[in-house]
Amino acid sequence: MKSQKKYFIKTFGCQMNVYDSWRIAAMLDARGMVASKDVADADVIILNTCSVREKATNKVFSELGRIRDAKKSGALFGIVGCVARETGAKAFHRIPDLNFVLGPQSYHRLPQILENPDAKLLNIDLGGLEKFDEMPQIVHAPVVSYIPIQEGCNHCCTYCIVPYTRGPELSRSFNDVIRDTLHAAKTGAIEICFLGQNVNGYKYTDENGKIYRLSDLIRETAKMPEIQRIRFTSSYPTEMTDDLIQMFKTEHKLLPFLNMPIQSGSPDVLKRMNRPYSLDAYIKIINKLRDARPDIQISSDFIVGFPGETDNDFEQTLKIAEQIKYINSYSFKYSPRPHTAAALMPNQIPENIKRERLAVLDSALNEIQRKFNEKCIGKTLPCLCEGADKTGHHLIYRTPYMQQCIVACPKDTACPTMANIKITAANRASLRGEYVKN
Ligand code: 5AD
Ligand code: SF4
Repeated sequence: MKSQKKYFIKTFGCQMNVYDSWRIAAMLDARGMVASKDVADADVIILNTCSVREKATNKVFSELGRIRDAKKSGALFGIVGCVARETGAKAFHRIPDLNFVLGPQSYHRLPQILENPDAKLLNIDLGGLEKFDEMPQIVHAPVVSYIPIQEGCNHCCTYCIVPYTRGPELSRSFNDVIRDTLHAAKTGAIEICFLGQNVNGYKYTDENGKIYRLSDLIRETAKMPEIQRIRFTSSYPTEMTDDLIQMFKTEHKLLPFLNMPIQSGSPDVLKRMNRPYSLDAYIKIINKLRDARPDIQISSDFIVGFPGETDNDFEQTLKIAEQIKYINSYSFKYSPRPHTAAALMPNQIPENIKRERLAVLDSALNEIQRKFNEKCIGKTLPCLCEGADKTGHHLIYRTPYMQQCIVACPKDTACPTMANIKITAANRASLRGEYVKN
């Protein structure tokens, strides 16, 4: 019997890439291939790449060098995603035996290289979102299922390569999103996370001129009995419209947790970032969210060391982090990217200052997180199980605020997927808890 062909996929970057990799895997599964964890054993090797920071891009090329040495002869290897779009044909110059380079909106063309392995395949067009309809569905949806609803971004923040790599905003049709969500619900999903670079900018107009927004998707999804938790990421502050804010009041399946990056607490830096909102406007939106859902927690992304950022600008970032009490946040050193305006700005900040500011901000954010986690001790929270830890003796649950909560495996009963968990201990990184008998 002929042995089954194997594929190896490694994913870098955001949830959108994670989802795209799932769809690529589903496509290869449908062609009779099987996943492998070993590059040396694989017939097709795919790196799904991220170019949002320079370090991520460099990682891809060092990884490609390692793969070239480790792969078996005749195996196909290539890159998909944002580095493919950023690098284009130049990737073949850097790694001449690379077989394919496919941008984030053309990875559904991968079968072409499987059918014609002697050719080189390059496609980095921004071709729209056909990929979602041309690829086979994920057969068994994960408990937490990501559903992309829009891709690309019209905001043009001056540091960000995404408008170049993923193109202008495109929203999928309401019916397509609901069809995919229903499929996920029927095949195992309990939590739905709607995805988009600018997810709350979702706007779809049907043939009759009817406009659908993210709030419509949430309302429809909340009707699905299998789905118990809904969230979405990542949101642009000024697109947090009242209809969406009201969802936090009316739809209890919507988790009380929102990622709404502020990036900097300095009005001057925000202006140069081309993020034209005032701190007052941002805080007003948070207050409206807290009126709608008093326990809502906000997470943010931050960039430190943006060109021209002074000590005073940085102090203002620390101040806003303390004021909003962000949890589960990410902070990054500014990284100059090709095709962006900020890369050409004067007063680029030296690496050592960026590193120092990042350490200060990280420790402030960690302290806020630790205090929030400790405040949860004694509370009972409805949590979703995401699997066992490495020892197999504990289960990892997620609280409604996306904290990790570790629970000892029950000896006599099956592990419930959704459970009420009483929080018994906390540190900065995680919580510990125990089941509450209903
Ligand atoms: N340098 C550093 N961080 C960046 N991000 C986007 N572009 C850059 C860059 N050039 C961060 C932003 C964004 C997150 C996904 O990545 O904080 O929200
Ligand atoms: Fe990039 Fe987000 Fe700004 Fe869009 S809103 S340009 S994706 S940082």
